[in-house]
Amino acid sequence: MSTCRVCAGPLTEFLDLGAQPNSDAFLRPGETDGEFFFRLAVGRCGSCTMVQLMEEVPRERMFHRDYPYHSSGSSVMREHFENTARRLLATEATGSDPFVVEIGCNDGVMLATVGRAGVRHLGVDPSEGVADEARAKGVRVRTAFFEESTALGIAAAEGRANVVYAANTLCHIPYLDSVFRGLDALLKPDGVFVFEDPYLGEIVERTSFDQIYDEHFYFFTARSVRNLARRHGFELVDVLRLPVHGGEVRYTLARRGTRPPTAAVAEMLAEEERKALAEPATLERFAADVRRTRDELVALLKGLHADGRRVVAYGATAKSATVANYCGIGPELVSSVYDTTPAKQGRLTPGSHIPVRPSEAFDEPYPDYALLFAWNHAEEIMAKEREFRAAGGKWILYTPRVRVLE
Ligand code: SAH
Ligand code: TYD
Ligand code: ZN
Repeated sequence: MSTCRVCAGPLTEFLDLGAQPNSDAFLRPGETDGEFFFRLAVGRCGSCTMVQLMEEVPRERMFHRDYPYHSSGSSVMREHFENTARRLLATEATGSDPFVVEIGCNDGVMLATVGRAGVRHLGVDPSEGVADEARAKGVRVRTAFFEESTALGIAAAEGRANVVYAANTLCHIPYLDSVFRGLDALLKPDGVFVFEDPYLGEIVERTSFDQIYDEHFYFFTARSVRNLARRHGFELVDVLRLPVHGGEVRYTLARRGTRPPTAAVAEMLAEEERKALAEPATLERFAADVRRTRDELVALLKGLHADGRRVVAYGATAKSATVANYCGIGPELVSSVYDTTPAKQGRLTPGSHIPVRPSEAFDEPYPDYALLFAWNHAEEIMAKEREFRAAGGKWILYTPRVRVLE
């Protein structure tokens, strides 16, 4: 039996998404032999309620020099992180000589604004390629995995932080006990840890099962985060829903007794209880919704193929590895994926081996249908590609349900 990575309680599996590759391991054509696969399945802890993967992929397989994800690839996300930086500067990075640390700073999309404001900062990210891009923006970065030893090193060399921030990164880190010991060493007595990640409530509501992949180890709720924080001497003192990436929550943790929790915390906990979020029956229902989505999407794509339609996909997201490999979608159903990321172009999607082409080639000529893998950027992409629909092209979406936009 597997046990919870947070509290060692019993894990009950509720969804099996089958054999999956590393979601960001885009292959060179001809290099498809010996691809790494693991069993992607999700369970819930009967003690602390944390929803998590049943199997852990070694971190060095995912985060390394060639990690292809670039946070600055979306203008909506650039604006989101600029606003986030301004907010942290106004509310937390105050007093004399404040210090801001970011876990998983990627290409510096958030810290660049902090740096421009002249505030002392440090990013920590193990993926050297994106870290170098952050450095090119004037951001200070340590190429390392954040854990207890990293935090001790930073505290010794640079002093304690007013705020430690992490976006779309804490959920990537199975070894949270070490992270929290590190936070305890690194944060000032009244410092805060602010992090934002995809919200299980949204994933269940929208059946966005593609948020489940190797890098996303945890699926947080206010309840599981409160339990997690308390184990480590912290308290959940604020929550804020965010519209980005299909619905996230920003959690603020402070040392126990240093800040009173806001009303928003109690409200979110009450809403989760009302909806029975993360209760076994709800998760079983979610798993059934996922299987239905798979069946509907596969039927739609096979039907279009039989009718001789040309179908492509848009956005070579990490998320799409789960969809393609779980549904068995390969190049015969979806002939290519269009994406703006140079490091993904000319490669094949992991496991499903669909060629990735530059988004500039999307109109050469337009396909009949485009499966929107980057559905979390729908507004931005549909605005940019409005000519596609004007030319008679149709978008296919699979969350919150499978549908063709007429
Ligand atoms: N914060 C950015 C990047 C998210 S991608 C955004 O929201 O867009 C996740 C990032 O976390 C990657 O750049 C990856 O290299 C980094 N990462 C993974 N494990 C980490 C760890 N233990 N410590 C610090 N960074 C980590
Ligand atoms: P994203 O959904 O942010 O994350 P993940 O890989 O974690 O699932 O990835 C968006 C992908 O879509 C990324 O490879 C860049 C690409 N993209 C475009 O091709 N065009 C666009 O306009 C945008 C916003 C993203
Ligand atoms: Zn647990």
